[in-house]
Order: sequence, then C-alpha cells, then structure tokens
Amino acid sequence: MSQPADNQLANKAQAWSALFSEPMSELVKRYTASVFFDKRLWAADIQGSLAHAEMLKAQGILPAEDHAAIERGMAQIRGEIEAGSFEWKLDLEDVHLNIEARLTELVGIPAKRLHTGRSRNDQVATDVRLWLRGEIDELNTLLSALQLALVEVAEKNAEVILPGFTHLQVAQPVAFGHHLLAYVEMFARDAERLADTRRRVNRLPLGAAALAGTSYPLDRERVAKTLGMQEVCQNSLDAVSDRDFAIEFTAAASLIMVHISRLSEELILWMSQSFGFIDLADRFCTGSSIMPQKKNPDVPELARGKTGRVVGHLMGLITLMKGQPLAYNKDNQEDKEPLFDTVDTLKDTLRIFAEMAGGITVKPEAMERAALKGYATATDLADYLVKKGLAFRDAHEIVAHAVKTAIGMGVDLSALPLAELQKFDARIGDDVFEVLSLRGSLNARNILGGTAPAQVRAQVARHRARLGA
Ligand code: ARG
Repeated sequence: MSQPADNQLANKAQAWSALFSEPMSELVKRYTASVFFDKRLWAADIQGSLAHAEMLKAQGILPAEDHAAIERGMAQIRGEIEAGSFEWKLDLEDVHLNIEARLTELVGIPAKRLHTGRSRNDQVATDVRLWLRGEIDELNTLLSALQLALVEVAEKNAEVILPGFTHLQVAQPVAFGHHLLAYVEMFARDAERLADTRRRVNRLPLGAAALAGTSYPLDRERVAKTLGMQEVCQNSLDAVSDRDFAIEFTAAASLIMVHISRLSEELILWMSQSFGFIDLADRFCTGSSIMPQKKNPDVPELARGKTGRVVGHLMGLITLMKGQPLAYNKDNQEDKEPLFDTVDTLKDTLRIFAEMAGGITVKPEAMERAALKGYATATDLADYLVKKGLAFRDAHEIVAHAVKTAIGMGVDLSALPLAELQKFDARIGDDVFEVLSLRGSLNARNILGGTAPAQVRAQVARHRARLGA
C-alpha cells in the first residue's frame, strides 16, 4: 500500500473518529466490518452513486467538472473490481467506504462531494434493493426454465399412469404428466409472488439521508427514474429502516424451496427400489464408498436439506427486525448474508432441477403395476353403480364389499369374473371392465383440472403459451 493511500485512509477514519480517544480494537473492527460479504454489492453501489451524482449536478449542487471526475473515477473503479485488482480493505469497513475512499484517491475533492445529501443508511438500503431487483429478474428466468422443463416431461408422459396417493396409500390412477404439472402450478405461483415482491423492492430510499431527509434540494424522482425504480419511499425513517422487502423475498424463496423439497421427496421415493418408478441420470447421483451397488439421489436429497437453510434465513431476517426501534440500526447489516445465501442457494437449485428434469427416465410398467395393486379403480366402480341408479353412499358400501372379496382372492377388481361382481349388484354388466381399467379410470376424469390425458395436453398448451414457449 502506498503512503498517500494510507494517509487517505487515516483521514477517512478521522471523519468520525476525531471524537474518539482510542482506536477501535482489531476484534471490534472485524466484528463490525461487512466488506468481506457486502463487496458483492459493488455494482449497485456504483450505479446508485452515479445516479445520485448526476442528480446533484442537475440540481446545481455539484459542479459539472466534479460530476465528470466522479464518472471517470467510477469507471476506473469498475474496471479494477472487474479485473480483480481492486484492493478491498477491512479498515474501510464496508463496500460503500471502500469505493468512496478509492474514488477520493483517484479524483480527490470531487469524490468528497459525492456524499452530499446522502448517508450510508439510505445508500445501503438503495444498494440492496438494486441488487435484489436484478437477482429477482434472474430467478424469474430460471423459474421459467424449470417450469418449461417440467412441462416437456409432462407432455411426453400425458398417457403414463401411476398411482395417485392420499396418505401415501394408493388412491386413484393419475397421469404422470398430470402429477408433474401440479409442480408447474406451484412454480407459476412462485413466479407471481416474486413479481409482486419486486414491486416493493423497486422503491428508492435515497434522499432519506441518515433518517430525517436532507436540507439539500434533491430531486428524488429523478434518481428513481435514472435507476428504473417505480416509486420513491415516502417516509425517510421508514426508507432507511425498512427491510420488509428482504423478508418478503426470503419468504417467497422459502416457498420455492418447499416446492422443490416436496418434488425432491417424490423423486427420492420414486427412485427407491420399493417404488422403482423412475431413474435419475447418473450425473445427478453418487455412489457409496462401501456398498458397490448403490446409486444415491444426492441432488434431490441436498435440495431437500437446503430448504431448511433458506427457511432458516427467513427466520433469521424476520427475527432481525423484531424489536428494532426506528430508524437505522447496525443490526440491519445482518440482512446481507442470509439474503445472499438465499439467492445463491435458490439459483443453483433451480438450475440443477431444470437440468435434472430432462434426465428423468420414466418406467411406465412399474408405475402401472403399482397402480394395479391398491384397488385404485374402486371409486370408478362406485361411480358406475351411481350411473346405474344407486345412491353414492350405497354404491360406496357395495364396492367396499367387492374390494374385501377381491383382497381375499388376491386379485384386482378387474380380475373378478362378471358373475362374481354381479353378486354385489345385479345391475353390473359387461361394460364394467372398461370402467375398472386404469386407462378407463384416467380417461373418465376429463374435466377441467382433471387427470385425463386430453386435459393434461390442454394444460401443457396453456403453460407453453404462458411461458412463451
Ligand atoms: N455496512 C452498513 C450496513 O450494511 C452500512 C450502513 C452503515 N450505517 C451506519 N450508520 N453505520 O448496514
């Protein structure tokens, strides 16, 4: 580090430490610094500073030459950070002071004017919002890709039958495509939630200064417009202290992970020897160091595990805000790591799942065999009797007897001879066998939202149109 740079830093620290009679202890310095994680906000920090400087110039608060110097310095800093040559310093506490100090090194006095009418409190709130807005946009793209990947597998499997479960007991036959589209619905709602959260993320705190606003004639609307922000935060105290948007985002992220986790659980079950419904491509699995026959679904298992981590971040953030008096408190510095980790975990998970969906091998025979085991068409027999004139409750009772008999004989309902079936109700005719078949059951549920292949195809078309694919 060169001598003049050192002096700059000393001066910088002097700005607030003139009041202090002893230097900060090394431990406290490390404890309070955030630069090692918040340097990630650098691009947003520069973007926010440039918008602020441009407005200061437009308002006649900052001379045009100073503005030009700030732009020049920031361009160089951007280059240094991108090239990895920027020297981040713990002594300068956070991303904001690091960039400002470097700007001062590079352009001198004009850099010292940048902070006019601004505080790190409204600066950091703006940075986090700008950064998160960009991440939400990326997440939205990833969510669409995952939905599309699932829609494609669903389309190929519109006719494949597996047992639908309630209480994890075989209930009724459903199309595998229909089952996958249930997850597409979840992820579609997740995308809606992210879009809604984005509206509240995309508001501008700058101009709130430390907490009370500023005496300079700032044009907040102008800064908002430059930054593409929809609105200006309307109360300075709220502007610097609000982290609702981070909590909301993490809540939306937690729900996405919960959906991923439910899907993971199913993939794990389906891949187990007991089910044997699917296989996952080798590249998403690992072996065992002791059992040579093993192929473990590590990716879905880890995703299920990482759900706990993201939900934990939600708990962390919501607890962080509890009991904080207005306005800014240093507690808020703790918003970043959970937020960053939530975004990273979510992005990786969504990417992997979109890829993994394409690598699912479906085993239709195993699925059908399982569907044939649990008297999955019993409801269809009851419905058949209702169509023949019985009340549903009576039909339900009759079918329970029929199932009991079939269990005793160790066969499916469809394997009972007609004469046997007619003992339960004389109205049962030859046409019952189509009704008792898995495919007959599936095709019969040709209602909006139902599992009939025709409905699955209609939903596939709707999703494709919605996703623009
Ligand atoms: N690093 C701080 C944070 O993340 C920036 C704001 C500091 N403001 C202050 N008054 N100490 O919240």
